[in-house]
Amino acid sequence: MKILGIDTSCDETAAAVVADGRDVLSNVVASQIEVHQEYGGVVPELASRKHIEAINYIVSRSLTEADVTFKDLEAIAVTNRPGLIGALLVGVAAAKSLAYCHNLPLLGINHVEGHIYANFMVHDALTFPHICLTVSGGHTLLVEVHEGWQYKVLGGTQDDAAGEVYDKVAKYLGLGFPGGKIIDDLAQKGDPAAIKFPRPMRNTDDYQFSFSGIKTSVRYFVEKARRAGLLVDSGQADVKPTNPDMVTIEDIAASFQAAVVDVLVYKSIRAAKATGAKAITLTGGVAANSQLRASLKIAATEIGAEVYYPPMNLCTDNGAMIAGIAYQKYQQGLRDALSLNATPNGSLV
Ligand code: KG4
Ligand code: ZN
Repeated sequence: MKILGIDTSCDETAAAVVADGRDVLSNVVASQIEVHQEYGGVVPELASRKHIEAINYIVSRSLTEADVTFKDLEAIAVTNRPGLIGALLVGVAAAKSLAYCHNLPLLGINHVEGHIYANFMVHDALTFPHICLTVSGGHTLLVEVHEGWQYKVLGGTQDDAAGEVYDKVAKYLGLGFPGGKIIDDLAQKGDPAAIKFPRPMRNTDDYQFSFSGIKTSVRYFVEKARRAGLLVDSGQADVKPTNPDMVTIEDIAASFQAAVVDVLVYKSIRAAKATGAKAITLTGGVAANSQLRASLKIAATEIGAEVYYPPMNLCTDNGAMIAGIAYQKYQQGLRDALSLNATPNGSLV
């Protein structure tokens, strides 16, 4: 059973065809990074306009690559929540028109549910219940995932999302957008213990996160070091600073990353211990982070749990995860009317 999945929730125009919830026949993504780069973050209005330009082509390309026509499809699924409202509306309008024209059932899907489902598409050994950490530019959510796609939300961020903080810190350091991979790469050449950035909410008795304090702390540190002429530019770390008070961009990147990863890992492990889950999944763009993957693996091994993450094209925003979870929801009887609307918020349960 083949489903077309569409996602335009943020800055990627994505469409995919997936058979039986797991067999990815095509997964096409048009990235808008170049458009938003000069602003150091996603500009919602520009995102909507770019989606309008790309959506028809991306959908038809996803069908061509999957070697199917609309006649071969059983349903059309689209992310209708949460996300940037203008961006979501483009995907929803396209999906509704196509469902109407081709007389196909329509399913509105929660974007975060798609991210959570991504691991299930590729890991046969994944068991339930498991703990899923969704970390992206827009989300930081810790969820207990049960059989039948039932969720218990354990906690989330109270302010910035993890990826958002990476992007903002990269902006302060003049490193470009998106900042996650750039900081991840620089951090590998720096000392994670060089600067002790705060770990907000690490020891609170819950599963909540707060990242804006880390961000502000890095910002003040960078400004102070810059004013004092103590900041060593990126790529200069090998040139041994003559002054022991000097700090390299690599050290700041590594120390910042250590703070973010510490909190994410600590609370994920705490959740696994409390629930007895034997598997922890990572998903969302920040799941690509090398330190997060490595630290979580070490900590999980200590409590006898497995760590899973999807390949990069299923980690970041894509249509395949939407078509995948839609298949499961279709089996459960989900059908939406053509009055389906987009909404910027939308909780999992
Ligand atoms: O899932 P995604 O593609 O889009 C959203 O739904 O936001 O995630 C993008 C986010 C960006 O904030 C980006 O900086 C971050 O994922 N990211 C990373 C890495 N690669 C991408 N963050 C940390 N380390 C990485 N290696
Ligand atoms: Zn996402």
